Amino acid sequence: MTRHQDLGFLEFAAELSAHTGLDLQAYKSRCLRRRILVRMRACGVHTYADYLRALDARDEERQRLLDALTINVTRFFRNPETWAFLADQVLPALLQERAGQLRIWSAGCASGEEAYTVAMLVALVLERLGRRGWLSRLRVDATDIDRESLLRAEAAAYPANAFSETDPAVRQRFAHPTPDGQWLVAAEVRAQVRVGRLDLLQDQPLSREYDLICCRNVVIYFDRPSQERLLQRFADALVPRGILVLGKVETILGEVRRRYELIEPRERVYRRAA
Ligand SMILES: C[S@@+](CC[C@H](N)C(=O)[O-])C[C@H]1O[C@@H](n2cnc3c(N)ncnc32)[C@H](O)[C@@H]1O
Repeated sequence: MTRHQDLGFLEFAAELSAHTGLDLQAYKSRCLRRRILVRMRACGVHTYADYLRALDARDEERQRLLDALTINVTRFFRNPETWAFLADQVLPALLQERAGQLRIWSAGCASGEEAYTVAMLVALVLERLGRRGWLSRLRVDATDIDRESLLRAEAAAYPANAFSETDPAVRQRFAHPTPDGQWLVAAEVRAQVRVGRLDLLQDQPLSREYDLICCRNVVIYFDRPSQERLLQRFADALVPRGILVLGKVETILGEVRRRYELIEPRERVYRRAA
C-alpha cells in the first residue's frame, strides 16, 4: 500500500498540481481527463495511482505530461485572415497614433511563432507606411508557462512546416535558412521580442500599457471563472482603446464583456472600452 493507492480524479489532480506546479483546477476538467488518459495509456498504466508512480520514477514523463496538458501547437501567421485584418484595419492607425512606440503582448506564445509573427507584421506595415526606422520602437513581450516551449522561442529557429501558413516571400524576408535545415528568425525581428515565463492564471501582466494583446487558443482551456478573471486582467493591462485578439473559436462571456467592444467578430478582435 502506498499514498498513491485508490485515488479519485480530484485527489489525483491535487497531487498532480503539486508535481507540475500547474493550477489544474482552473483547466476544463473534460480536456484534462482526456489528455491525462492519453499519457496513462502511453505509459501502459491503468490507474491514477500507478500514473503518479510513473511520474515519480521518470523525469521525462513530467515534461511529456506538461506538453500534453498545455498543448503548444502553433505556427507562424496561424489563421492568416486574422493577421490580414490587423495589418489592414488596426495596425496602421495604431502605429501612426503612437509614432511606432507599440507595446504588444503575445500571452501564451508557446514556442514563439505568434510573437515573431506580430513583429514581422508590424515591420511589413511600417514599410508600407514608409516608416521602416520605427521598428526599433516596437516591443513584443512573449510569455508562456511552458519552459521547454520558451527555450524554443528563445532559440528562434524553426522547421519549414512552422511556416506552412506564411507567404513564402515573407518567410524569405524575415527568416534565414540554417545549415541544419531550419529557419532562423532575422535579427531585426528577434531584437524586438522578449521571451519570459508567466503563468496567466497566477502572475500579473508585465505592463499596464499594452496597445495590443494577442492571447489566442489559450483561454479555451480555462474554466469560465478563470477566463473571466484573466480577461479582466487583460483589460487592466491594455491602454484605453487597446486591442485584444483571441483565438478564432474563443469569445468573451459574462460581466467582463462590458469592458470590451467587439470590432471584428470573425477574427475575434476586441477593443478595450474607453
Ligand atoms: C495552443 S498554444 C497557443 C499558441 C499561440 N498563441 C497560437 O495561437 O498559435 C497554447 C499555449 O498556452 C500555454 N498555456 C497554457 N496554460 C497557461 C498558463 N496558465 N499560463 C500561460 N500559458 C499557458 C501553453 O503552454 C501553450 O503554449
